[in-house]
Amino acid sequence: MIKPESIEQLKSAIDIADVIGNYVELRRTGASLVGRCPFHEERTGSFSVSPSRGFYHCFGCGAAGDVIKFVQEIERIGFNEAAQKLADWYNIALEYESGEAPKRRDPRPLEVLKRFFINELWQNGDILGYLQKRGISRSSIERFEIGLALSGAAQIDMFSREKIPLTLAAEAGVAAVDERGRYYARFTNRVMFPIYNPQGQIAGFGGRTIADHAAKYINSPQSSFFDKSRLLFALNFAKEAIAKQRRAIVCEGYMDAVMLHQAGFQNAVATLGTALTETHLPLLKKLGEPSITLSYDSDQAGQEAAFKAAKLLCARGFGGAVALIEGAKDPAEMLEAGGSEKLATCYQNAVPFARFVVAKIARRAENRDAAFAQMRQFLDTLPPFAREEASASAAAHLGCDPSRFRIRASAPSAALFGAKSDRAELTLIKTLALNRTLYENTVDYLNAALFAAHADLFAAIGDEERLFALLSDESIKTLSPDEAKDAIGKLLTFFYKKELKRLRAEGRAEAIKEVHQMIDRLKNGGLMPFKRF
Ligand code: UTP
Ligand code: MN
Repeated sequence: MIKPESIEQLKSAIDIADVIGNYVELRRTGASLVGRCPFHEERTGSFSVSPSRGFYHCFGCGAAGDVIKFVQEIERIGFNEAAQKLADWYNIALEYESGEAPKRRDPRPLEVLKRFFINELWQNGDILGYLQKRGISRSSIERFEIGLALSGAAQIDMFSREKIPLTLAAEAGVAAVDERGRYYARFTNRVMFPIYNPQGQIAGFGGRTIADHAAKYINSPQSSFFDKSRLLFALNFAKEAIAKQRRAIVCEGYMDAVMLHQAGFQNAVATLGTALTETHLPLLKKLGEPSITLSYDSDQAGQEAAFKAAKLLCARGFGGAVALIEGAKDPAEMLEAGGSEKLATCYQNAVPFARFVVAKIARRAENRDAAFAQMRQFLDTLPPFAREEASASAAAHLGCDPSRFRIRASAPSAALFGAKSDRAELTLIKTLALNRTLYENTVDYLNAALFAAHADLFAAIGDEERLFALLSDESIKTLSPDEAKDAIGKLLTFFYKKELKRLRAEGRAEAIKEVHQMIDRLKNGGLMPFKRF
């Protein structure tokens, strides 16, 4: 058990907005910050954080709590684990009630091992030669603290010599226990790249085989301090350049990142053998929302990854472009062949995200209709300013009128159907417009007065032109006939309840009695013709 005073101290020492800012993009509005709630799907920002109260609250789904609760919920971990995680991040010591030792992350095993690996490399002419052949300079090896893991036994011995308990080495992810209960080293026969967190502390390693092992690269195991989806290789070196240039290069491999820095692209980072995902974005956002150049491998997998990353970045409001490496498999290979200028040109000619995505959709789709639908779907994910430009690009591809495309494309109901837009009403109107029989069977129950937000659209049923936006909005689903009747029942109930208020104010006892009876019948699932009082 962590002492309550210790918890209070922890909470007061850390800024809740800083923690949540790692997960959610927050905008300041007065004393609080707002963003999109990470606990439920939403397009608007209902999620609010109050740094002074140390509290978050979502007006949409009701999620609320303090900083520890937030970490518990988002990481799906327990209270103690969440508190400990926060304490580790901020280098705060927690005090525990009992003798139970607090599990603090100890950087020593990683530090000593890093130095050991460096030492091994500089004594190994073959591997130094290999790195040289791949174009990595001695000063890059030094700067990136590249090392060499050879025998596992030597590493285990080293830990004993340095008086580092193997349990600690195991916790740090560099040793593990075999079936016979003996410790072995995780990394053997690999060129080692230390990986730092954004705070500049070593978090783990990535290692490339020198023995043609089937796993070309392996990383430290996933843990609270080595979380692949929240780390970027070389970010510790690139941070300043990214913030200054407002531009970042994101590549796939450690070798790429090292070679890029060496060639003067100081704003390069690499993901850790994973796709670029939502969780990486706060790292970049914090550096001033740089424009991103995606510099992935030229193979199919690399281009597919670029497609996904471009869609994600666009949707999250990042600007940037996809670079197409020609004549080499990746940026490292291009630089190895001495093409730093060629690469710079390639980056200059990179294709802006939206254009890249739209072009790829156009190339792939089986036919024009499919392309149209897929483009519209993509456009629907974009913030308004990005959508405008992307619509033009999409329309150009399909050779259709851009304005028409834009109308079809701008789907979110609030934007298109007014601030008062009501999804339930829209859903019902769309259903009725598409199901003639249902419409005819229910028309007696219906009246424009039932549609508080969209009476005009209800009145337009039958007029495809006027319902165009609604009918082409894929985010608005349609209902089965039974569901539609339920929906009508709800609208009638709601309407008559409002009527009751008016009738009471007017003191019309007869009418009130009748409306009550109608509401009761509606409650029991019955429908009756619409009636005004
Ligand atoms: P690549 O296979 O493109 O690596 O994988 P590379 O950097 O071009 O390799 P070499 O050294 O030049 O041959 C790109 C990245 O994907 C991850 C690593 O992070 C690597 O840097 N990866 C790759 C893995 O995690 N595991 C693998 O088995 C392969
Ligand atoms: Mn590669």
